[in-house]
Amino acid sequence: MVLASLAPAIRAAQIVPVPLAELRASVAKALPLLERSSAFALQERACFTCHHGAHPSLVLNDAWARGFAISTNNLEDQLARAYQGLIEDRPRFKEGWSIAGTADGPGTALWMLEVAGWKPDTTTAAAAEFFLDQNKNLDHWVPPMRRPPTVGSEFTTTYLVLRGLRHHSPPSLAPRTGSRTIAAGQWLLAAPARNTEDSVYRLRALHLLDVDEAAFKKEAAELLAVQAADGGWPQKLDTASDAYATGTALAALHDTGALTVKDAAFQRGLRYLLTVQGTDGSWHVRKRTHDVQPFFDSSFPHGVDQFISISATSWATYALLRAVPKTERKPYLVTHPQAVARVLASALPNKEQHFTEEQFAFFRQKIEPVLTTRCYECHSAQAKKLKANLYLDTRAGILTGGDSGPALRPSDSDRSLLFRSLTSDRLELMPPKHKLPDTVIADFRKWIDMGAPDPRIEGTAKPAAYK
Ligand code: HEC
Ligand code: HEC
Repeated sequence: MVLASLAPAIRAAQIVPVPLAELRASVAKALPLLERSSAFALQERACFTCHHGAHPSLVLNDAWARGFAISTNNLEDQLARAYQGLIEDRPRFKEGWSIAGTADGPGTALWMLEVAGWKPDTTTAAAAEFFLDQNKNLDHWVPPMRRPPTVGSEFTTTYLVLRGLRHHSPPSLAPRTGSRTIAAGQWLLAAPARNTEDSVYRLRALHLLDVDEAAFKKEAAELLAVQAADGGWPQKLDTASDAYATGTALAALHDTGALTVKDAAFQRGLRYLLTVQGTDGSWHVRKRTHDVQPFFDSSFPHGVDQFISISATSWATYALLRAVPKTERKPYLVTHPQAVARVLASALPNKEQHFTEEQFAFFRQKIEPVLTTRCYECHSAQAKKLKANLYLDTRAGILTGGDSGPALRPSDSDRSLLFRSLTSDRLELMPPKHKLPDTVIADFRKWIDMGAPDPRIEGTAKPAAYK
């Protein structure tokens, strides 16, 4: 759908376009930060994230297509993590939840995989089926919690789901996909956007479904009307412009065809972004939401604001890249079949190793008693109040992990959260305040480095839904 009637009015006010060299210089300053921090986060917390995984990767993939030098290794690692997240979520999908926030996590992962050229398969189809099972008695999809701006808008969740369904719903699910899509289209027409995030994703969803051209044009005009005198967009009408709102607004207006890069409004937005970019290459946006996850420093600037700031920097860079000509490159994974193989190989669940009786005995004698007496109180099915959503009473529980993702990486104690928690390596000490004796910690290291043999039969432990 192209905004034929709105565009000429906007184009009437042409301004001098931002020189390409300035755009390139700004992008080139932001990319290393995004790369460093996305790679760092994978080391630090093993889970797939929207802020450090998906948002930077959308940009890195796109920057690659426009001829910027990026670390393709990091991009592949990020894609592998996103895909692995879906694989890990598959058993949860059946129970109606996912590690990071019902539909938002898998929906964001699917978007990132799709633009990189991932082909639909049984794993992405499982995510699509999960979407159809979610919010069944509603005509749209709702976020798991409010963490504005990125998580908390019903329009964002609904768009992520609709986009995922569009690309990954298998033919066998076509009837259910069709009826939920129709219902969502009706909801979209009736529900008003209340802030920039709503408006951005309402616009994207109206464009995706192509339900009503007049409604689409009206939303585009409303989003444009919010552009401030400084050229930026505010998250809410009573706040100042910032890079998150501006980046996401420009991206949506451009991707839906409502604006082209030549339009004055787009150029003013780009100018705003260049003006407020930090000398370090990042864009600082203040956090509005309370903490849900245990904080960690991901090496991105801006302290407690770094999680929203890396998303903002991603979207701002994505917006700037719209004005950088694209080289004729096909999506990364299409031109790199070996990368697809790498993603699959690293994402598929570790094959169960064959452990010896001695190794199991080591677990029974040295590890299990410690878990039982020092950890189960807070991390098992018996815990009065489960802490960090982490079950340590089954091997599956440990591998799945809690709020911060898998608690161990077999054979890699240094990168295993469980081991690091015992030594308080940038994590809360476990058990809290009572460090285990060094010999016991050494046993845990030995156990993890031998692949974490664990003969326990599945307990009754059932993961609790994400808070
Ligand atoms: C659905 C998208 C999404 C996924 C997936 C996700 N996060 Fe986040 N995360 C957020 C949002 C939104 C915020 C809040 C950012 C802001 O506005 O400051 C956030 C913030 C954080 C913070 C800062 C503290 C806080 O809670 O605000 C940490 C730490 C964090 N996430 C860790 C993780 C870890 C570990 C995982 C993997 C289990 C993860 N995230 C997966 C969306 C996500
Ligand atoms: C008295 C309760 C208590 C005991 C006992 C305890 N923990 Fe914890 N554990 C917590 C709390 C609370 C958190 C969340 C810390 C935070 O959010 O900063 C946590 C978090 C963790 C995490 C991080 C999980 C994640 O995904 O964020 C790991 C790993 C962990 N504990 C391992 C252990 C191990 C191993 C033991 C036994 C040696 C243990 N804990 C004993 C209360 C406990």
